[in-house]
Amino acid sequence: VQVCIGSGGVGKTTVAAALAARAAHAGQRAVVVTIDPARRLADALGMGGQLSGEPRRLALEGPGELWASMLDSKATFDRLVTEQAADAEQADRILANRYYRNMSGALSGTQEYMAAEELHRLAHDPRFDLVVVDTPPSRHALDFVDAPQRLVRLLENRVYRLLVSPSRPVTRAVSLAARAVLRTTSSVVGAQVIEDAVEFFTAFDGMEDGFRERARTVTKLLAGPDCAFVVVTSPRADAVDEAAVLHEALGRRGIRPTTLVVNLLHEDPLGAVQEVDRAQLASAGGVLARRWEAALALSATSRQEEAAVSPLAARFAAGAVIRIPRLVDEVRDLPGLTGFGALLTPVPR
Ligand SMILES: Nc1ncnc2c1ncn2[C@@H]1O[C@H](COP(=O)(O)OP(=O)(O)OP(=O)(O)O)[C@@H](O)[C@H]1O
Ligand SMILES: [Mg+2]
Repeated sequence: VQVCIGSGGVGKTTVAAALAARAAHAGQRAVVVTIDPARRLADALGMGGQLSGEPRRLALEGPGELWASMLDSKATFDRLVTEQAADAEQADRILANRYYRNMSGALSGTQEYMAAEELHRLAHDPRFDLVVVDTPPSRHALDFVDAPQRLVRLLENRVYRLLVSPSRPVTRAVSLAARAVLRTTSSVVGAQVIEDAVEFFTAFDGMEDGFRERARTVTKLLAGPDCAFVVVTSPRADAVDEAAVLHEALGRRGIRPTTLVVNLLHEDPLGAVQEVDRAQLASAGGVLARRWEAALALSATSRQEEAAVSPLAARFAAGAVIRIPRLVDEVRDLPGLTGFGALLTPVPR
């Protein structure tokens, strides 16, 4: 698994799609999944609005396969409920519940947790050798990393347990009391909503253990050796700062980002110019002199960018920093993606 994270607009989606395309060209069966509700991935792949919760295969020439999908957190939640329920009857009761139907997409943290869950599913899908994840801008990427742990904490929360476990004799009375309390709130929220909510949580009875176990497995996957975090940044100071913050935040969670992608760099046009040439160019007049001035300015920009990035780059192993120039064209189709993918060296491990 490769997870692309970084601040807004630095090229996460493009890099994620290109990593998958590159792997496909190298013979792997790769799927790129976006958990960003923005629809950029479909654009980068030249797919129009055709991305859905089910991976779809793209027509990429080569020995491998390229697939793409977009998180459908409602469908993922439904699948999880069906899988974790004791029997079909319990699953149906939850899936048909009005509170569940209205809230399963909107409940805070659901989207993030389902992203982690979907990642787990794809990582274990025998159709794929590589799963590349495109995340929304930084802070939300961490929400996604944290979501499984937060679910575990919720499931262990005492109030939650009292509400959810009415079948246990001791808690049954409390649960009735809790219902009474909730009912007094119902003049504000509407009695039906409260009834639906209580019924929803009641219907979950017995499923906590399965959910907790799954959340632990997902957390382990994210922090484990099969998952590489790829930090994407531009050389802009704010993006670099945010990438550094992300790097630290991941570190605190026991995750070490393996690769840094510095995207949108200005190339130094003077890199290969010899000192003697410089002197000649500087003394030339007319168009040549103006070009020389422009080249000098671009060279200065490039060196400033390199200086801005270097403290961050120093946190990564030598050979784990990928530099990509600012290109003239946007990546909007498979050939473009293939070209972009060829720039991604060395390949993240
Ligand atoms: N190296 C590059 N050269 C030129 N344009 C680029 C390059 N990398 C990305 N872009 C363009 O920059 C824009 C933003 O890229 P992308 O959508 O991949 O960023 P993102 O980090 O996913 O953004 P968001 O945070 O909004 O999800 C796109 O129009 C993309 O085509
Ligand atoms: Mg994006």
